[in-house]
Parts: sequence; structure tokens; C-alpha cells
Amino acid sequence: MNQLSQNNLGPVDVVIMAAGKGTRMKSSLPKVLHRLGGTSLIGHVVRTAARIRARHVVVVTGHGAAEVEEALGKSNADVHLQFVRQTPQLGTGHAVQQAVPVLPDDGIVLVLSGDVPLIGEETLQALLAASAGRRLALLTITFDDPTGYGRIVRGDAQGAQGDHDAVLAIVEHKDATDAERAIREVYSGVMAVPAKLLKDWLARLDNRNAQGEFYLTDIVKLAAIDGVPVVAHVITDALQVAGINSPVQLAALERALQLRHAHAFMERGVRLADPARFDVRGTLVCEADVDIDINCVFEGAVSLGAGVRVGANCVIANARIETGAVIHPFTHIDGERAGVTVGAGALVGPFARLRPGARLGADVHIGNFVEVKNSTLAAGAKANHLAYLGDATVGERVNYGAGSITANYDGANKHRTIIGDDVHVGSNCVLVAPITIGAGGTVGGGSTVTKSTEPGSLTVSRGRQVNIPNWSRPQKKPKA
Ligand code: UD1
Ligand code: CA
Repeated sequence: MNQLSQNNLGPVDVVIMAAGKGTRMKSSLPKVLHRLGGTSLIGHVVRTAARIRARHVVVVTGHGAAEVEEALGKSNADVHLQFVRQTPQLGTGHAVQQAVPVLPDDGIVLVLSGDVPLIGEETLQALLAASAGRRLALLTITFDDPTGYGRIVRGDAQGAQGDHDAVLAIVEHKDATDAERAIREVYSGVMAVPAKLLKDWLARLDNRNAQGEFYLTDIVKLAAIDGVPVVAHVITDALQVAGINSPVQLAALERALQLRHAHAFMERGVRLADPARFDVRGTLVCEADVDIDINCVFEGAVSLGAGVRVGANCVIANARIETGAVIHPFTHIDGERAGVTVGAGALVGPFARLRPGARLGADVHIGNFVEVKNSTLAAGAKANHLAYLGDATVGERVNYGAGSITANYDGANKHRTIIGDDVHVGSNCVLVAPITIGAGGTVGGGSTVTKSTEPGSLTVSRGRQVNIPNWSRPQKKPKA
């Protein structure tokens, strides 16, 4: 299926360069797999490439190729990726050369870098329009501190009359003269170029430069020689072209990205105690009047209903928190694949832990040091202190005492515990599953219950209390 890009310039094929070692990260993990806002650097780029509806998306891998390919293969069901390998890695020009065999001649090639994660879809569309299928279009930006980037050298165009500002070359930082280093307009690492021209130029690259590499950026000189127009599409949004080469740059971009998220949420009415201490590493959806205290982290898909309050230092992943629920400080919620639901008006924490498959109904209370896994608690049920509920179905208004646990694992298999409506489980009970506690029943504190009970009954299963009157305690022997 040939999908045309929306601007009708003809087919667009994307090449994402991701073979470099990322030496400056000083990490065994391939650079492009480091995470920004919860997604790998290259994951961001692939997602954007998918949105512009490219015909082919080719990823050039090399350093850590198997790891990068596996990570991308797993997380991108919605876009068909082709991988080409670059071994050894001889530079960005050499990287794109590896993709030549899979690039048809009739397309525009959009070259992206796996380490420039926040490039925007509209920016790419504008760059494609600037190329118009016949020009070499470079995405550029002006930085106060251009250190490390390729500089955009401008001057009189060959043959063209009156164009004193034409782009003549990109000079890499390491190859630049002092005068060139003073240039503040830099190449972002993103370009759009007609495939036919690109292939011709790639074949003519050499590696006579400071790094002994085949620079993709040298095609600009070749375009100038061939009289092919080079256009610079200049943007001002530095986040979109920020490249990640070191942990310092990764952290700086993470903070900038999170601050941008925070401001967007506040503009929609979410109240954040401190926008600098707020982290979204997935998709967070907030209804009206949500209040979030400091140091909260949201991962995966999380939704917060109207009026939800989240206390300080909570980590919430893959969960739905319904209207008016309150999550007190230091609560950890992770629904992983099964998800977690916290019903309307429920109170959770402080120091609570909700694990996959925890489904809390309306007005449920989960207190400190209570762990809930794969369990449903119906409306009004309470487990307020130091308890474990695993693989349980808990009825309405149940009171589950401090220190009580469901013994759901027999060493080989998991079993369910069913607790009927209005049951009262005392403190320090062990409910050995599979077991059913009949509705309205009471389990005396300290009981280990191994057999199901009838509705309305009192169950006590512990050693009987013995009282010995006039008991005299042992005395210390007098010293000899
Ligand atoms: C590159 C540009 C520079 C630009 C900067 C923007 C070149 C020569 N320089 O420099 O002009 O200002 O990006 O961020 O293109 N890669 C490969 N194979 C290789 C080498 C690199 O796939 O052999 C990949 C890397 O994994 C990375 C991307 O290409 O994703 C850029 O490589 P990097 O070494 O980071 O280039 P820069 O020095 O940042
Ligand atoms: Ca880079």
C-alpha cells in the first residue's frame, strides 16, 4: 500500500539513523534506547514518523543492533519498520548509504536522527514542503551556544543572481575554523531530500575530515556544486531539535519536556503544587479540578476523574482513579497490564500499594501498609491498616482488620478468597484460600480459617485463652 504524505509532494520515505555508539553516554545501553518521558529516544522518533504516514520507515542500526531492533519491534505494532545494519559505523553519510537499496528513486527522503527525539510532525511537514520534491531542505536553528553542532555556512550562490545568503555547506564543529565556529546557525540533524539526488551525492562522499567519517552533511557542498537549491527551514523551538549525546543533555531535555507537560496541564485547569516536581512518563488524562501535590510520577496510561486529589510522593501507573477519590501521600499504584481501578470517593493511603487487578469500588478505604492484588472490593469495603488482599472478592461494607491476610498461594497454585457483604474480619487473621466467608459473618481476631463459613456466623479459630489465678512470676536468685 502506497501511502502518500498529506501535502501531496509524492511518497515520503523516512530514514532514522540509530547505529552510533553514543560514546558520550558512557552506558552499555545503546544511546537511542535511553528513555525520555518514559519512551526510548528512538521510540519518540518512530512515533512521529508514523504520524506523517511515510511509505517506508527505515531504521539504520549498528551499535547494539539486536537490542534496538528488538525494542522497536515490540513497541511499534502500528508502523512497519525496516531495519538495515551498518557495520562498522563510518559516519552519518555511511549510515544513510546502507538504506539506499531499500529507498525507491521516486520518493523524498526524510532523514531523522534517533537521538533527536522531540522533532514535531508539523515541522517535518514544513520541511517536506520546503524541499518540494526538488530541493535539499535542511532544518536549522540558531543557538546561543552552538558547540558541537554542524554550522550552516552561507554566502553567494553559484550562478544564482543576488542570493548572498544561500546555504553553501555544513561544517562540523571539529572541522570548523574559529570564524566558522562563531556561526550560531546550526544543522539540526534533520533533512528532506529527493531520493535520486541523495543517492548520487552519497556515492560521492569521502572521509577526509577531522573524524575520518563519511559525513551526511557533506552532501550540502555537493548540492552547491551541482547547482541544486539548498533551503534552510529555520525553527525557533529548541526542544524539537535538541540532540542527546550525554546524561547531562538527557536530564536537561527531560526537565524541559516535563515542564512543558506541566504547563499544558495547568492551562487545562489541573492544579500542580510545583510544576518542576511533576513527571508524566506515558499518557495522563485529567478531568476538572484535579489537585496534584509535589513529586508525583505518572506512568503508562493513567486517568484522574473530576476532583481527584493526589498527595505528595505518589507513583501511579496504568490506573483509573474515579471522581473525587483521594490518594494520600507515598502511595504506589501499578496496574501493569491488568490495570487498577479506584472507585469514586475512595480513600487510598498513605503508604498503600495497589497492584495489577486491584478494583476498588466506590468509597472503599485502603489505609497504610495495605497491599491489594488481583482483588475486587465492593462499595464501602475497608482495609485500613497493615493487611494483604490477594486474589480476593470482597463484598460491600466489609471491614478487614489490621494485620489480616489472604493466604492465596499454596506453594504451587493461587486460590481465591470470597468474603461476603458485611463481613467483619478481626485483626491478625489468616484466610487460607480457597475459602468463602459467608455474608454478614464475623471472624474473631487471630483466627486462622481453613474452612468456608456460613452466612451470619461467628468463626473463632485459635487457642482458647487460659487464665491461671494467683500466678507468681519467677524470681531472680539472690547472688551468692
Ligand atoms: C550530527 C551532524 C551535525 C548536527 C548534529 C545535530 C553529521 C556529520 N553531523 O552530529 O551537523 O549538528 O548531528 O544533532 O551528520 N549515526 C549512525 N551511524 C554512524 C554515525 C552516527 O547511525 O556511523 C547516528 C547516531 O546514532 C545518531 C545520529 O546518527 O543517531 C547522529 O550521530 P552523532 O554522532 O550523534 O552526530 P553529531 O556529532 O551529533
Ligand atoms: Ca548527536
